[in-house]
Amino acid sequence: MNKVTQLMELNTKWLTECTCTLRSTATQGVLGDGNANAEIIFIGEAPGAREDKEGQPFVGAAGKFLAEMLADIKMTREDVYITNIVKYRPPENRDPTTAEIDACSEWLAEEIKIVDPTLVVLLGRHAMNHFFPDKKISLEHGVVSVASLFGKRQYFLPLYHPAAALYNGSLRTVLKEDFKKIPRILKNITKENPCARP
Ligand code: URA
Repeated sequence: MNKVTQLMELNTKWLTECTCTLRSTATQGVLGDGNANAEIIFIGEAPGAREDKEGQPFVGAAGKFLAEMLADIKMTREDVYITNIVKYRPPENRDPTTAEIDACSEWLAEEIKIVDPTLVVLLGRHAMNHFFPDKKISLEHGVVSVASLFGKRQYFLPLYHPAAALYNGSLRTVLKEDFKKIPRILKNITKENPCARP
């Protein structure tokens, strides 16, 4: 079965089975989007108002900024896969709770296993702390780390969240500079592991 079909089946299953309490207030589940065969998966926090309305991740102001940074490295949304740790919008865009993150975590895990990316880019502290609970985004942004994920060696790149950097001049500059490291990082990973991707 190809990855697109696997993701469709996964989403059908979790849209009915997910126990996240945010389902009662959200308009709909916001599913992962983009290229199922991508080398890079971007993982954000949770849908905002626009995403909740349209059912697609990162389509609001933060999404526009993400698309801009992708264009800077000669990529588009269609080249990458984009998702969130939480699939339903928290009311008033508050931070997701641990229970809400936990309720969606198996869904996310299965999504990552299907896409099987070369690089996992973690957007913001919530996404980063889901995988690395003790790390601080102010220290780890732009720094690649390798960790075991589902029994496999996985490369991670934490970045500041585009929404946090959007209206903060200095964070914006840092995020844009970190983002530009992505092509070199991908190249180096492939060099280190020539058999990692077909
Ligand atoms: N912020 C996120 O973390 N995810 C989205 O989908 C939109 C904004």
